[in-house]
Amino acid sequence: MIGTDIAIDLGTANIKLYMDGTGVVVNEPNVIAVDAYSDRIVAVGREAYDLIGRTSDRIRVVKPMSGGVISDFSLTDAVIRHYLKQVSTSRVFMPRVVVTIPGGSTEVQKRAVVDAIAANGIRKICLLEAPVAAAIGAGMDITRPRGTLVAVVGEGVSDAGVISLNGLSASRSIPVAGAAFNEAIIEYARKKFDLLIGEHTAEAAKRAIGCAYPMKQLKTYMLKGRDQTNGLPTCVEMNSDQMLEAILEPAIKIIRMIQTTLEETPPELMTDVAHEGILLAGGSALLSGFDQLLSKKTKMRVRVLDDPQNCVIYGAGLSLRSIDKAKFDPKNGNRTTPLIAYY
Ligand SMILES: Nc1ncnc2c1ncn2[C@@H]1O[C@H](COP(=O)(O)OP(=O)(O)OP(=O)(O)O)[C@@H](O)[C@H]1O
Ligand SMILES: [Mg+2]
Repeated sequence: MIGTDIAIDLGTANIKLYMDGTGVVVNEPNVIAVDAYSDRIVAVGREAYDLIGRTSDRIRVVKPMSGGVISDFSLTDAVIRHYLKQVSTSRVFMPRVVVTIPGGSTEVQKRAVVDAIAANGIRKICLLEAPVAAAIGAGMDITRPRGTLVAVVGEGVSDAGVISLNGLSASRSIPVAGAAFNEAIIEYARKKFDLLIGEHTAEAAKRAIGCAYPMKQLKTYMLKGRDQTNGLPTCVEMNSDQMLEAILEPAIKIIRMIQTTLEETPPELMTDVAHEGILLAGGSALLSGFDQLLSKKTKMRVRVLDDPQNCVIYGAGLSLRSIDKAKFDPKNGNRTTPLIAYY
């Protein structure tokens, strides 16, 4: 067996690896901790994530991606290297890799992803747009001349695309997603309660009572932080209506981006999209009521795909089957595979 092929979802919050024949083998926070003096890597993944906000000046905890794109090239490379080494089956034969990218990536951004992976001695690298990967992961037949609108809302980027004949017919993305919800919660707590809270607290509160549509039954969550006026540790109860108030603005920005994608959808495909509705994927598709708000604003049916946070990596994994067919063709003119070979 030549080194097993691998799919990578290089996300702002999480890095996921899928091995052909095995399934998802890595699903870890995309975080790395480095010693600021010696540049030595102290921790990667969950271990590094747990250090956020808890280290001394000496240890730098970094999320090497932001807004869905690489913001620190060498640390992204270090994270990829760490996990490829962990799962690599052969020292001699390097695998072929499919890596997902936001639909709206520029050539420079694509090149950065390719270079970060190529630095690890890979034989062949193919790119796959996240909405296309999510559709494959959800078991859709994307080879048909039929339009399907998939929106992927992750941590750093929201991506919408209309898929037909193995490619994207219309696509948009914006750097507003789960991280923007957390920032909005932090800002709300500061303004409304004079309470300073950290990222982990905002994330936990969002998962517990976060919503983009009024909840049938009001929920509450105890925010632990520091009083802005006297600096002392304190707790404040936040409820789900306040959460809605905090989160609504970024949620509406994402919905506007999806509406723009709809407006740019070719009329022939629009009929299919209107029939099938909008499909939602990405971790932030789990935000309670986001589907309802989207449905209300677009007047279309909205369906959250099964296991939305993993659709993209599943789809990338399944697409490994057509890696032999992938050729270098940035415009994807041949349309026999959704993959674009870059290396
Ligand atoms: N139950 C939940 N409610 C709200 N948000 C959630 C929930 N579970 C996960 N999330 C959010 O999902 C996001 C992570 O999703 P995902 O793994 O799809 O992102 P990513 O691929 O790392 O990022 P990106 O694609 O934006 O680069 C985080 O922002 C997280 O807060
Ligand atoms: Mg993602």
